[in-house]
Amino acid sequence: MLLKGKNVVITGSGRGIGRAVAIACAREGANVGLMSRTIEELNTLRDKIKNDYPDVKVVIAVADVTKIDDQTKAFTQYSEELGKLNGVIANAGWSRMGDSHEFDSDKFAAIININILGVFNTFKAAYPYLNTANKNNKARFITTGSAIYPNIMVKFAAYAASKFGVVGLQKELAIEYKGKNISFNMVLPTMVDTRLLRGSKAGDGNKPPGVMSPNELDDYYTFLLSEQANLINNQLIQTFDAQEAIKFLQKSSIDKTSDWDSIASFLQEKSPKSFEKVKGYGALLKFLYSRS
Ligand SMILES: NC(=O)c1ccc[n+]([C@@H]2O[C@H](COP(=O)([O-])OP(=O)(O)OC[C@H]3O[C@@H](n4cnc5c(N)ncnc54)[C@H](OP(=O)(O)O)[C@@H]3O)[C@@H](O)[C@H]2O)c1
Repeated sequence: MLLKGKNVVITGSGRGIGRAVAIACAREGANVGLMSRTIEELNTLRDKIKNDYPDVKVVIAVADVTKIDDQTKAFTQYSEELGKLNGVIANAGWSRMGDSHEFDSDKFAAIININILGVFNTFKAAYPYLNTANKNNKARFITTGSAIYPNIMVKFAAYAASKFGVVGLQKELAIEYKGKNISFNMVLPTMVDTRLLRGSKAGDGNKPPGVMSPNELDDYYTFLLSEQANLINNQLIQTFDAQEAIKFLQKSSIDKTSDWDSIASFLQEKSPKSFEKVKGYGALLKFLYSRS
């Protein structure tokens, strides 16, 4: 188990990517703190995790990530029931599309608030409870970004602005808290079969080609939370780049048990562009390849 006994909080875990990641963390032995605004979804997920993984603790908190008082209360509760936190995943997010000249300004503000202020509040509320005692096992702060950074999609001005914004936020925090035993990383998925992308059709079994299932992201998050990822910091992990590198390796003679040095020299020689994109998180790429 990658995360036995660790304590991990995931925002936006009532459904979608956050839900899948929460289940994956519990499967890997972590106690989990769940957060969203919908109690019914949190209760259902808590019951499922407790049933499937009876040894892990589950704490739920209804909170709006844009409200610092909600988050402070939630993180106090997580720490009282779980203890110091090894990892926090700022995942809650929202999006709407539309022509910019007609787009409702309150909706624009709401998207910016959830996707940027929400991440900031999560960090601020979590900070006192992060387990930063060990430089060989730093606390992890992981954000869910989006491949819309840097690949603009038309009619998503608010969402694009917000996801560009959290990249700046991560870069700032990584420098500001350098030396404090916290690592900051971002997973930037392409399209994922969730309500955010497909509305009520999410999970209907008819996702279009190229759309990922939420649980295809599990390994990214669980590995980044694990001790093996201690040295990965301030990375923007584009799932598209990682998947392209893995596809390339799959067509090669490189064994799946190879170490990162062998994988790196192979990629550097045969696919230098791909190497440049993934070299900052070699240990993760090696892990993803070994599981592919
Ligand atoms: N789906 C994709 O194609 C895709 C691609 C790239 C990145 N992402 C990112 O992935 C993350 C998760 O989205 P998803 O696709 O899993 O969407 P989702 O299925 O709609 O889930 C979003 C989660 O965030 C919660 N949430 C939204 N606003 C919140 C708020 N103000 N306070 C607390 N919780 C809030 C929602 O719960 P409540 O509404 O109950 O609060 C829900 O649990 C987002 O950051 C999104 O931008 C998604």
